[in-house]
Amino acid sequence: MFRLILLLFFGYTFAATADQWRGRSIYQVITDRYALPAGADVNACNITAQTWCGGTWRTITDNLDYIQDAGFTAIWISPVNQNYQGPSTAYGDPYHGYWIADASQLNLRFGTSDDLKALSAELHRRGMYLMVDIVANNVMATSITPDWSVYMFKDPVNSCCFSDPKCLMPCSFKTQYHPYCPIDWNNLTSVQNCWLGDTSVSLPDLNTQDPTVASIYGSWISNLVQEYAIDGLRIDAAKHVQAPFWTPFCESAGVFCMGEVFGSDIALASSYQQVMDSVLNYPLYDAIVQGFSIPGPGNLSNVSAVMGQIQNSFKDPTLLGNFLENQDVPRWHSISVDPQSLFNAMILTFMSDGIPIIYYGQEQGLDGSGDPYNRGPLWTTGYQRTAAYNLTATLNRLRNYLVNNTNWAQSRTQVLRVSSQGIAIMKGDVVTIMTNIGSPVRTGRMNWICSSLMVWCLQPQNASMFAYTHWPSSFSSTDIFSCKQWAVGSGGTVEVQYTKGGTAVILVPDDILQGSGLCLASSQGKSSTASLSNGGVWRVNVPSVISVSLVSLFLNFLGVMKQGIPSLYYLPEA
Ligand SMILES: *[C@@H]1O[C@H](CO)[C@@H](O)[C@H](O)[C@H]1NC(C)=O
Ligand SMILES: *[C@@H]1O[C@H](CO)[C@@H](O)[C@H](O)[C@H]1NC(C)=O
Ligand SMILES: *[C@@H]1O[C@H](CO)[C@@H](O)[C@H](O)[C@H]1NC(C)=O
Ligand SMILES: *[C@@H]1O[C@H](CO)[C@@H](O)[C@H](O)[C@H]1NC(C)=O
Ligand SMILES: *[C@@H]1O[C@H](CO)[C@@H](O)[C@H](O)[C@H]1NC(C)=O
Ligand SMILES: *[C@@H]1O[C@H](CO)[C@@H](O)[C@H](O)[C@H]1NC(C)=O
Ligand SMILES: *[C@@H]1O[C@H](CO)[C@@H](O)[C@H](O)[C@H]1NC(C)=O
Repeated sequence: MFRLILLLFFGYTFAATADQWRGRSIYQVITDRYALPAGADVNACNITAQTWCGGTWRTITDNLDYIQDAGFTAIWISPVNQNYQGPSTAYGDPYHGYWIADASQLNLRFGTSDDLKALSAELHRRGMYLMVDIVANNVMATSITPDWSVYMFKDPVNSCCFSDPKCLMPCSFKTQYHPYCPIDWNNLTSVQNCWLGDTSVSLPDLNTQDPTVASIYGSWISNLVQEYAIDGLRIDAAKHVQAPFWTPFCESAGVFCMGEVFGSDIALASSYQQVMDSVLNYPLYDAIVQGFSIPGPGNLSNVSAVMGQIQNSFKDPTLLGNFLENQDVPRWHSISVDPQSLFNAMILTFMSDGIPIIYYGQEQGLDGSGDPYNRGPLWTTGYQRTAAYNLTATLNRLRNYLVNNTNWAQSRTQVLRVSSQGIAIMKGDVVTIMTNIGSPVRTGRMNWICSSLMVWCLQPQNASMFAYTHWPSSFSSTDIFSCKQWAVGSGGTVEVQYTKGGTAVILVPDDILQGSGLCLASSQGKSSTASLSNGGVWRVNVPSVISVSLVSLFLNFLGVMKQGIPSLYYLPEA
């Protein structure tokens, strides 16, 4: 009833459910790094210093066009609760928002209560959702014996002693925190009860098995969600808490919950989808990295195998959060030198089962091999309409259209064909064919002479990937990137030539495409789709591209020798 009144009052549905999130796409921002207030020095952010660079809830609110123009229908922001406020630590300051102090307070570094409400209201005015990152597993301290009075949970852990032989109050005594112990990563109980961090920046672990702690957390999240009209939660370190805690927690929240279950363990990750709506799709991420990165093992069979395991193991794969980057993994640019590998991998995250998530700066080719370098400021890019930005806009436009007008979001991905270098999938009525061969023009299957005399391989030949669909030969579909109609061969075969490099195609039946706004007959319409031809999206220096390409060329050559079968061959485009 309360919700209904609010709904009538604001004229907008918040407290969104899993079903409402399924068709959304999410732009993840680190609040401190997305946008600066007007007049601030754009060159002042020092990533290495690990300190605040000046982004706030208000600067996000003022710069939502960039996100909405790319077609996103939701944003995920950094944790909003109060963080550690003491002197800079060995790991800098909590600019990222994960070092919780008193969770009952807001983080005033990011703005006031009114600022956060204004961000929420502005998102809702635009028809977008707000997802807030929350940390319940732990708080943060600068020792293993902190002053407990600064936290929302004040019941001290140090009234019990862990290894002291003169201990009067053993640790089996219920307290609101688990006693300190370093994590043994091979022991799940230890992963869940011991403390993340180290002894200089420790993350004291809440005793979430204690009913009082669980009940206080339930009221806390219910209040937070209602106060700020939050539509969904991203739950930090979800696997570091025993799974049963999350069912009542997410019920109290009353909104979509997506948990972080780090790692490629499908059994563990899928067990968390029994207690919350969704988890981040780390298993798919790991498979995508090994399948698409250049240089890399480059075997897409594994991606298909993992997609199959995901479908068999998860309660609902269409709700998983698909991503290529976040604040805890390397930027794609730092693991793969070729922009075409990003395009193909991104297309998989949008066109297969799940909710696509783009980490701010992914569309700008930001680099950074890990924390803190993968958290650079976005403003230094000038928010340009890069090829990756335009690709994102095209993918969102198609996906939003399919979500609104067909049962695409609920449908399940089917792998039509896979080889080590190509994967063709169908979801709903849309066929997507992706490859990991990279930007340079791929001109042919390597023949025997070619593999023994590399020089000969510089001669152009043709390369292609095909897939079998159930489409009849009269069927008319269009590739949304080239806007070319596609012929269907005998047995429903569709074929892609890589004479312009390894670009993906998305084939949409013409009767569905009409009305999407993509590939309109006029040239004006055409310019609204991304061009996937090879281009210098990334400001990489040419020698490094060439040298890495030469390395992969050499590895490719070794691979050919080992397998003794013809393989695709490529070289950097001049
Ligand atoms: C950035 O911060 C690091 C670490 O605090 C420091 O060593 C470096 O000099 C700073 N760079 C600039 C340009 O201020
Ligand atoms: C696993 O970790 C827990 C918590 O630290 C500990 O009590 C238990 O003995 C460990 N189990 C094994 C098999 O090491
Ligand atoms: C497939 O990928 C998974 C996860 O990255 C890895 O553990 C496994 O070894 C890979 N399998 C093959 C056959 O490459
Ligand atoms: C790719 O991986 C599959 C198993 O996932 C394996 O059967 C196949 O031989 C691999 N192909 C190459 C070229 O390594
Ligand atoms: C992206 O699209 C815009 C028009 O929507 C265009 O002006 C811009 O040149 C495109 N960027 C690239 C890199 O193609
Ligand atoms: C999808 O539907 C929503 C709600 O009716 C509307 O706001 C949005 O513009 C639609 N998007 C597309 C791409 O059709
Ligand atoms: C490669 O294929 C394209 C398109 O099918 C064709 O036009 C071209 O002549 C072919 N080139 C070679 C060298 O076979």
